[in-house]
Amino acid sequence: MGRRGLIIAIDGTAASGKSTTARRVARDLGYRYVDTGAMYRAVALKFMRQSLPLDDQEAVVRVLQETDISQVIANSGARTFLDGEDVTDPIRSPEVTAYVGPVCEIPQVREKLVDLQRQWGKDGGVVVEGRDIGTVVFPDADMKIFMDASLKVRTRRRRQEWERKGLKEDSQSIATGIDRRDRRDSERKQSPLKAAPGAIHVDTSGLTIEEQVNFVLEKVREAKAAQKG
Ligand code: DC
Repeated sequence: MGRRGLIIAIDGTAASGKSTTARRVARDLGYRYVDTGAMYRAVALKFMRQSLPLDDQEAVVRVLQETDISQVIANSGARTFLDGEDVTDPIRSPEVTAYVGPVCEIPQVREKLVDLQRQWGKDGGVVVEGRDIGTVVFPDADMKIFMDASLKVRTRRRRQEWERKGLKEDSQSIATGIDRRDRRDSERKQSPLKAAPGAIHVDTSGLTIEEQVNFVLEKVREAKAAQKG
């Protein structure tokens, strides 16, 4: 096949544990990790900074043509660059989180980023994480994982994650935010969030990080053995 390894697609709901799992699985296998959510966030940051009217197609296309997104692997995961600037931290801000929903629904934005994701992943040896990886970006991925967890567990995880960063928000508004984003991601016309045919479903509600990572690694071992056999 001339591939450097498998293409592993990890999709799922917000705060289901997919980023942590994808990062660790990639590290363990020596694979490249592609954080596609960060790519949408980087484009959203650029549009936000320019106060770009999102319904102005011409302007959107022009700005996209002048936009360079890249990602490099660092110890802590992927670092994302927007026109050469490291935007890994600013793209996690609550402002970008609120702004990214409509931006990732713009077809031209998806087209550009899906193209890039395919370029980065086509030779294999990648763990690609997002919402439409198994359905749209790599429908022929060697392995597809769909992760979810109860809203209660996801709310608790997000709150703990924010506390570690010194941010405070009450559980109710975190839960509302997660629920709203899932709904928006699942109900949109453009590449909605849904499990790909053949995806392995993982409910992480009762799993530790170690357990969810080991589960995926075990599936990868099985898939590799099946390919050889
Ligand atoms: O995973 P995240 O929270 O960083 O994703 C940011 C936004 O981008 C979120 O609203 C879902 C969207 N997204 C998408 O539409 N397609 C992807 N492949 C990845 C993320």
